Amino acid sequence: QFTQLVDAYGRVASDLRVSLTDRCNLRCTYCMPADGLKWLATEETLTDAEVLRVVRIAVESLGVTRIRFTGGEPLLRPGLEGIVAGAATLQGRHGRPELALTTNALGLDKRIDALAAAGLDRVNISLDSLDPVRYARLARRDRLADVLKSIRAVEAAGLRPIKVNSVIMRGQNECDVVALAQFCLERGYELRFIEQMPLGPKGEWDRSLMVTATEILDQLRGRYRLSALEEPRGAAPAELWAVAPDENQPGGRVGVIASVTNPFCGACDRTRITSDGQVRTCLFSQRETDLRTVLRSGGSDDDLVAAWVGAHRGKAKAHGIDEAGFVQPTRTMSAIGG
Ligand code: GTP
Ligand code: 5AD
Ligand code: SF4
Repeated sequence: QFTQLVDAYGRVASDLRVSLTDRCNLRCTYCMPADGLKWLATEETLTDAEVLRVVRIAVESLGVTRIRFTGGEPLLRPGLEGIVAGAATLQGRHGRPELALTTNALGLDKRIDALAAAGLDRVNISLDSLDPVRYARLARRDRLADVLKSIRAVEAAGLRPIKVNSVIMRGQNECDVVALAQFCLERGYELRFIEQMPLGPKGEWDRSLMVTATEILDQLRGRYRLSALEEPRGAAPAELWAVAPDENQPGGRVGVIASVTNPFCGACDRTRITSDGQVRTCLFSQRETDLRTVLRSGGSDDDLVAAWVGAHRGKAKAHGIDEAGFVQPTRTMSAIGG
């Protein structure tokens, strides 16, 4: 059977984000409360075999061409290497899927060689500050040195491109924008600045406090010459800017993910599965579609396909953050899967 995840607006989802755990070893303020989150029980989480069945169906029957493993923190999943290896054997209509990981990088230095050998193609690393004190304040854990060590290990392992994600928070790491850009330009990493979305602890997000893409670009213009890259953006969340060198600065490109002030919902090509086996057609879905029950009650591949396709027919047009009546999802980013 071959079909696609098409929604009522004609968008086709070919990019699957798989959350492998809701747990994390950091507590980034924009993502999670300091404590009090209730973790999923082990039996609620899909097993490695269940994850691989879902991923196989996505690739073989639903036209998914890119798979990104997320969390919480996906490195906390002991079976990660095996899951990557299993996914690397899949063949869809367009060949083997691209396999990527979004991670905070804690402990990645010790696992990157095995992950690359298993077939991992790319890594996106979250890094919000290069100052140990500000990093520890934002992540609520003093782990900057571990992240920096892991980034070097990813570079040594040869995975390219290395993308770095920075969420900029008012009064906390706004002062890190240029330093993060310089760090990434010097090393050839692709940095993306991300507008904070209302996906952290309930009631803490404030539209008027959010640092906008425009503000971030203005800061960068104070230091670099920027020009918009001509490449079509397609369904990629980041708007890319060429950063021109001056005599002391290497050039390169920097992206801005303006999910709030310039949403890319109209071109969204994403589908997501949470670690407890629920399809979410959007980060901001108010409804989830339960694949786990289908998996665990003897459902066939066709049953799973039908449930997943059905979920996408109801995919919302846009996140609606700026609209009256917007309601933040019940689960935080850590449980949905970044
Ligand atoms: P690339 O393929 O490497 O460009 O991956 P990516 O940027 O899609 O993935 P990553 O996990 O690095 O996500 C970076 C940021 O993109 C996240 O922090 C989110 O802010 C944003 N993002 C990812 N998926 C979605 C989505 O479905 N909707 C919205 N609005 N933002 C998203
Ligand atoms: N808004 C924007 N990005 C977020 N992330 C986590 N929470 C939020 C939020 N509320 C980012 C992380 C990571 C990526 C997967 O999502 O920094 O880089
Ligand atoms: Fe963990 Fe990522 Fe959330 Fe930070 S943003 S607490 S690293 S899941």
